[in-house]
Amino acid sequence: MSVFEGKSVLVLGGSRGIGAAIVRRFASEGAKVLFTYLSSPGDAEVLAAETGSEALRADSGDRDTLIALIGSLGPLDVLVVNSGILGAGDPLDMPPNDIDRLFRINIHAPYHAAVAAARNMPDGGRIIFIGSANADRMPMSGLAAYSASKSALKGMSKGLARDFGARGITVNVVQPGPTDTDMNPAKGPLKEVMHGFMAIRRHATSAEISGLVVYLAGPEAGIITGAAYNIDGGFAA
Ligand SMILES: NC(=O)c1ccc[n+]([C@@H]2O[C@H](COP(=O)([O-])OP(=O)(O)OC[C@H]3O[C@@H](n4cnc5c(N)ncnc54)[C@H](OP(=O)(O)O)[C@@H]3O)[C@@H](O)[C@H]2O)c1
Repeated sequence: MSVFEGKSVLVLGGSRGIGAAIVRRFASEGAKVLFTYLSSPGDAEVLAAETGSEALRADSGDRDTLIALIGSLGPLDVLVVNSGILGAGDPLDMPPNDIDRLFRINIHAPYHAAVAAARNMPDGGRIIFIGSANADRMPMSGLAAYSASKSALKGMSKGLARDFGARGITVNVVQPGPTDTDMNPAKGPLKEVMHGFMAIRRHATSAEISGLVVYLAGPEAGIITGAAYNIDGGFAA
C-alpha cells in the first residue's frame, strides 16, 4: 500500500504542465487529489477523468475566493502551490496592473493558501511551493518581477517552517529550471540560450519535477523544512 493511500492532496494550478504531472503522480500513489484550474476547463476535465481526481475552478489571483475554498475542503494532508505566471518584458513597458497580478498569483496566493491550509492540516502535513531556479540565478533580462516572486517563496517557506514546525508540518520550495511545458516548451526559440546556462543541457520533464514533490511530501522527508531545492540541470550551479 502506498504511503499516500487515504491522504488528501490539493494542487493549486493542476490542469496543465508541472501541476498536471503532480496530480497524476499523487493519484497514481493512491491519494485523494483535488486540483484547481482557471483558464483550461477542458484540460482539467480530461485530467480529472483520467486520474479520478476532482477539478475545482478557482483563480489563484483572487485571495478571498482561495481562502474560502481551502477553508471549505476539510483537512488537507498535502498542499502544493504550483499555479504561477511568467510575465516577461521590458519593465519600462509592463503595465503595473500586470505586475500586481503576477505578484498576487505568485506570492500572495502561496502565502494565503498555506495559512488557510495550515488551519486544519493534521500534524505532519506538507506544504510545497513550486518556485524557480530563477530565485537563485537570473541570467536574462525582462524577468525581474518573476524572479522576485520566486525568491519571495524562499523567505516565505523559511518563516512558515518556523510557524508550523511544532506540529511537524514541513514547508519547502521546489525550484525547477527549464521544464518542458506550455510556459517553456523544450523546442521554443530560447532553448539554446537556456541550455547554454545548464550543466545538463536539456529541459526537465514535468514527471521529473513531480518526483521531487512526492519525495518531499512523503515520510522520509519529515525532517526537511524551510529548504529550497533546485531541480534544474545545474542552471543555478
Ligand atoms: N516550465 C518551466 O520551465 C518552469 C521553470 C521554473 C518554474 N516553473 C514554475 O512551475 C509552475 C508551473 O509552471 P508550468 O511550466 O507547468 O506552467 P504552465 O504550463 O503555464 O501551467 C500553469 C498552470 O498553472 C495554472 N494557473 C496559472 N494561473 C492560475 C490562476 N490564476 N489560478 C489557477 N490556476 C492558474 C494553469 O491553469 P489554467 O491553464 O487552467 O489557468 C496551469 O495549470 C509555475 O509556478 C512556474 O513559475 C516553471
